[in-house]
Parts: sequence; C-alpha cells; structure tokens
Amino acid sequence: MALALIILAAGKGTRMNSDLPKVLHRLAGVPLLAHAVGLGRAVDADKIVAVAGYGADLVRDEAEKLGEGVEIVLQDQQLGTGHAAGCAAQLLADFDGDAIVLLGDNPFIRPETIAEVLAARARGADVVVVGFEASNPAKYGRLIRSDTGALKAIVEAKDANAAERAVSLCNSGIICAKSSLLFDLIGEIGNDNASGEYYLTDVVGLANARGLTAGVVICDEDETIGVDSREGLARAERMFQDRARAQALENGVTLSAPETVFFALDTMIGRDVIIGANVVFGPGVTVENGAEIRAFCHLEGCHISQGALIGPFARLRPGAEISADAHIGNFVEVKNSTVERGAKVNHLSYIGDADIGAAANIGAGTITCNYDGVMKHRTKIGAGAFVGSNTALVAPVSVGAGAMTGSGSVITQDVPEDALALSRVAQVNRLGFAAKFMARLRAVKAQKDSLKDKG
Ligand code: UD1
Ligand code: MG
Repeated sequence: MALALIILAAGKGTRMNSDLPKVLHRLAGVPLLAHAVGLGRAVDADKIVAVAGYGADLVRDEAEKLGEGVEIVLQDQQLGTGHAAGCAAQLLADFDGDAIVLLGDNPFIRPETIAEVLAARARGADVVVVGFEASNPAKYGRLIRSDTGALKAIVEAKDANAAERAVSLCNSGIICAKSSLLFDLIGEIGNDNASGEYYLTDVVGLANARGLTAGVVICDEDETIGVDSREGLARAERMFQDRARAQALENGVTLSAPETVFFALDTMIGRDVIIGANVVFGPGVTVENGAEIRAFCHLEGCHISQGALIGPFARLRPGAEISADAHIGNFVEVKNSTVERGAKVNHLSYIGDADIGAAANIGAGTITCNYDGVMKHRTKIGAGAFVGSNTALVAPVSVGAGAMTGSGSVITQDVPEDALALSRVAQVNRLGFAAKFMARLRAVKAQKDSLKDKG
C-alpha cells in the first residue's frame, strides 16, 4: 500500500524563545525537519508533506535542501493539530494509500515503529495510534481503551476527567489511517474543547462513532521525546549522542573518550576506525575502515578512506576527499579538494579547491590562494610533487608530477613536471656584517645608558 507522511511543522514553538521556527533548530547537526523527513525516507514513504506556518519560507528553503519529493503546504493560522493535518487534504486528494501524521518536533521515532503501525493497519484496524506509557502523563493526550483493549478515544489532558487523567497510556502524536478516511474524519472535527483547537486526536472517537476500529501500537517513551524548549533540545542532543556513541562502539569503532565525540545524524564510520578525544562530526561525513582521527578535529561533508590519518587539530570542510593512507596533520584545513593516496599535508596549511596527487608532500605552511576576491580557482599538484614549506600557490595554477617548489615561493605560473620552481629573492651572505652591526648597536645603547645614569 502506498504511504504518505504528513509532518506537522507549523507551530512557532514559543518556548524555544527564537526567531527560527522550531523544526529548523538543529539536533545532531541537522534541523528537526530533517529527522522527520529521514524517517519518511527510511519507511519508503511515497509522499512526504510538511505543514508549515510560522517561518514557512524558511521551512520551504530547508525542505528544498533535503532533496526531491518533500512538499510543503501552508497553515496560515495555527488552529490545532487536526486543522494542521487537514491542510494536506487538497494535496493528497487523489492519493490512494495510507497517511501517517507525525509531529515535526519528535525526532526519535524509529522506522520499526512505523512498520508496526502499518502491520496493525494490515491486520484490519482502521485507525492506528502510537502510544506510550508516560512516566509523567501530565500534558499528554490519554488513550482511552475498552475492556477488550480497543482504542475508543483520545482525551487531551485539559479536557480529561479524574478517571481519564489517571490513565498513563498516552498519545505520541502519530496517527495513521487510509488517507481518504483520515481527511474525511478530520472534516468532522470541531473545536468545542478546553483549548478551542481542532484536535487531530478527535479522529479516534469519530472513527468509533462510525463503527470503525482503532488500535494502538506501544513504543518506548524515549522514542516519543519531543523538543519544546532549548532545554529539551539539549536533552535530546545528549540522548542522540549517547546512542550514537554506543552504536559506534558496538560497530567496532575505538573511541578513547566517547563522551567528548559528537556525531551527526548521517555520520558513517567503518570498523577499526580510531577516534581520539574531542572530535566533532558535522553532517555528511563518511570514514572508511581503519582510518584514524586524532584529537580535536572538526569534520563536515567529507570522505576519509582506509588507513588515512587525520589530525590532531585538523579541519575538513565540505568536499574534502581524503584517499587511502593520506595524512592530514595539525592545523591543516582542507576544503573542496582531493588528496590522493599517500599524499601528506602535515602542518599548518590551507588546501582549498585543490587536487593533490598521490604521494605528494605538501610542506608546512603551504597555502592555496584559491580566492581572488570574486571567484574561486583550482590548484593542481601532480603525483609525487614536493611543495616546499611556506609556498603560496596562487590559483589557477598547477605543479607537475615530481616537481618541487622552493620554500617560501609564491607560485603564480604552472610548474612543469620534474622541474624546480623558485620565486623568491636570491640570498646574499655579507661576511662579518652581523658581528659588526651588533657591536655598533651595543655601543649606541651603552652611550644612552651612561647618559641616563648621569642625568
Ligand atoms: C499533541 C497531542 C497530544 C499528544 C502530544 C504528544 C493533539 C490535540 N494533541 O499535543 O495528544 O499527547 O501532542 O506530544 O494533537 N502544530 C501545527 N499546527 C497547529 C498546532 C500544532 O503544525 O495548529 C504542530 C506543532 O508545530 C507541533 C505539533 O503540531 O509540532 C504538536 O502540537 P502541540 O501544540 O505541541 O500539541 P500538544 O499540545 O503537545
Ligand atoms: Mg507538544
């Protein structure tokens, strides 16, 4: 059966105390919206629709970055979750399949839970809700079941009587039904309740009133954690990192100080990778088996191949492609560049928009001058080249295979293969000059000091 995911993301998230819509706050290096969209992709949703309201333009921009197939619908006024989900009705009018509603601020829902929801639908439940046993049910909607376990209604905390409030099985916010039925039921929702809102949760009671059945899939409370405040965001980050670290260790990654290593949602690390203390992974990093990342590195949008050695104190930025057995050392920044097999950039360098050939050696302090103030240009360095320390490579420029540059050179013209390029003032040795010069300076100082003593 085809599947549509509807992500509710129109709320401002007042308690975030932010100009940014809540779903654009970052968790594990990516916006909350990306977590929800990632879930949609993980369950192979045929359509992913986000309902945007507050900061809708920003949400739309972010959705575009998340790739194909994320559609945005607008909810002008935030009249409640039922009204929000209803905003997707037109877009999904001809959709023949199930629709699942997900709250955009719930980043930890697992694909397995969605699979259970779909299995419950396949077993015949017309509406399926994901519930959890709440340690503190206070603010959640309560799942009211019959003696046989069938779900009869969801009662919001504000509307619940004492008996209903005593129920600890709560609504996670995920509801699934056949798309056409869901929108049909949403059309019947009113707002005569304690909040004056259109509650999506009313679809359960409305389905029962039609003689349809509703079921519950129960998941762990941790999975349903939502982000409502900065404190909640920080807590969610801690939870994510704890799990990512545990997962990395289980996958055969050595972390010498796990609590100081930070992963992103999509970080991919192979077996027998060694990661030192205080390493931060931004989005889009892949590290292949057996590479080593030493302490205090910051990596994003890069690929590190087998046996490469990174850091300590290295920064790899988007488009850094580090091949097998290459070395990137301390205080080296690499951006949008390939460093081929066995090449070494070991100390204090900036390598931007460059291609560095296999086994080339880039001396300490080498800088690619890739930016002319308006445009970026590439530097090409051939295999086995030896770039002397403190060379400035003014791009566009190339250094041929096996060529050398003298230390301190400013290279503005291409260097042919196997050549030595020198561009610096020739050295002159003046014999005895230093000794004479120092003697003169000392004499001047002695005279000044004696005048001061007398004065
Ligand atoms: C909702 C559920 C509650 C459940 C809880 C789980 C309803 C009526 N209640 O309550 O049963 O236990 O989530 O966390 O559904 N949103 C919109 N447009 C709106 C209103 C909300 O897009 O008009 C979005 C918000 O941005 C948010 C999500 O829907 O991401 C949930 O809204 P929220 O107001 O937090 O619902 P709760 O009161 O927490
Ligand atoms: Mg909420």
